Amino acid sequence: MSSKLICAGNWKMNHGPEVTNAFLKDFASAVSISERSNFALFLPALTLHQLSGNELLEGLNWGAQNIHWETSGAFTGENSAAVLKEMKATHVLVGHSERRLLFNETNEDTQKKMQTAAQVGLTPVICVGETLDERKAEKTLDVICEQLRIALKGWDFIHTFWVAYEPVWAIGTGEVARSEQVEEAHKALKTQLEQIFPGKSEKVPVLYGGSVKPENARELGAQPHVNGFLVGGASLKVESFVSIWRQGQEVD
Ligand code: PGA
Repeated sequence: MSSKLICAGNWKMNHGPEVTNAFLKDFASAVSISERSNFALFLPALTLHQLSGNELLEGLNWGAQNIHWETSGAFTGENSAAVLKEMKATHVLVGHSERRLLFNETNEDTQKKMQTAAQVGLTPVICVGETLDERKAEKTLDVICEQLRIALKGWDFIHTFWVAYEPVWAIGTGEVARSEQVEEAHKALKTQLEQIFPGKSEKVPVLYGGSVKPENARELGAQPHVNGFLVGGASLKVESFVSIWRQGQEVD
């Protein structure tokens, strides 16, 4: 994989302000300004202000784990994409499997959120992935391509977006997908992208997520259609997060 390998951290609902502060300081000294554009951090909404205007972290991509599809209004507890943009965020996760499974988000919801992200100028990271039952029923490629197709309905390619393939059965379970399973899914997603946007699929990074660790990053990063990682548990510590990125580059 080239030096363009991306390493994105999804902290989920972890770390308070104090630990966040210590993490960000350590991260800033571990990763040079020129390397930072290869990283993204998705913090809980309550600590995102620690990234906003943080001079220590120049060049870092960052954003929220979720947005509402409306930019303001009576939506108690939701995150506004417009506010996120005003805070100088660059990215936002859309359609993470925990949003889909625990908070009943549909493919149509993800499509609306994608549009809202584009409207305010945030780069959405659309997450797709199959459940274990879907994999056992050999529906993996159909499910993930449909999730992608619906999310991208009406998408104008002048806006950038990333894709993250995260098999639900590999998230937080310690069970990483085999590299050939990952490559097969990524290849199918790239083919789907190519069908929707002919000649442009190479411009869209497709990240793998699901129990990525320093120990498996090298093999996963070597797959031809893997452009980086979306990391949950192992992104909570600077050492493992940065080591995943460095290991992922270590390909002959
Ligand atoms: P994990 O989570 O690395 O802890 O499996 C990945 C994710 O949910 O984005």
